Amino acid sequence: MEEYRKFLKNYVWEHIIDKKTDTLKTDQYRNVPHPPLQKEYPKEAKLIDLVASEKFAVAKMPFIEVIRKRKSRRKYSKKALTLEELSFLLWATQGVHRIIGNGMATQRVVPSGGARHPFETYLVINRVKGIEPGLYRYLALEHKLYRIPTKGNLARQLVTACMEQKFVGSSAVTFVWTVIPYRAEWRYGKVSHKMIAIDAGHLCQNLYLACEAINAGACAVGAYSQRKMDKLLGVDGKEEFTIYVASIGKTE
Ligand SMILES: Cc1cc2nc3c(=O)[nH]c(=O)nc-3n(C[C@H](O)[C@H](O)[C@H](O)COP(=O)(O)O)c2cc1C
Repeated sequence: MEEYRKFLKNYVWEHIIDKKTDTLKTDQYRNVPHPPLQKEYPKEAKLIDLVASEKFAVAKMPFIEVIRKRKSRRKYSKKALTLEELSFLLWATQGVHRIIGNGMATQRVVPSGGARHPFETYLVINRVKGIEPGLYRYLALEHKLYRIPTKGNLARQLVTACMEQKFVGSSAVTFVWTVIPYRAEWRYGKVSHKMIAIDAGHLCQNLYLACEAINAGACAVGAYSQRKMDKLLGVDGKEEFTIYVASIGKTE
């Protein structure tokens, strides 16, 4: 166990600070160019427009009520989410305010160590009005969706990848977050990984609260098969891999 507990400790900081220059011994301070802020997508891809955050008419519930109501919800109604509701949930978890530092980082609706925001958001969509069921990726910089071609029964594959937790298959949408560790490692090297784990929690907590505000519910899913989920998304499992999952649906 001791080996695994180490991951939660902060002892690595002392080893990556260069005492002479008081900077970190990482790629950023070696002047290695910064990694892209977002994973690339095919130039010719036809993207799906989402509703802009300035136009949201949803989520008018008082904040205190949202906090009071929050709980993990695993029973979802057959009602579909609207495109506006989905747009709101995506924006509430990864929405970009601005690009800073000459294109080096983003500021978003959630905090992230060193503003690295090392995540990508994938969606397994079952019931969203106007959107075909399938696998999608949120392009946070463009606030658009990119559809990823898939084969076979996606909902079935999702349940299998979530250790047969059946409620996930009944969700309107399941969020699957991946991490691209180098986006954080470029700045923080070996201290990135604890920060990445903490940052993942920010995304999911915002999703929980955003869901409550639109009479939907979320359930975090930590019990998933790394190999099966990475395969479902088509990510390499090395430079990018699944870090957290959350299923959501309408509750009324
Ligand atoms: C990191 C994490 C992983 C979780 N994984 C699962 C899961 O795989 N399946 C599940 O049904 N609930 C999962 N949950 C939900 C917890 O069971 C739930 O948060 C806890 O029982 C407290 O209930 P509440 O969220 O309603 O307050 C997870 C929650 C967290 C924060």
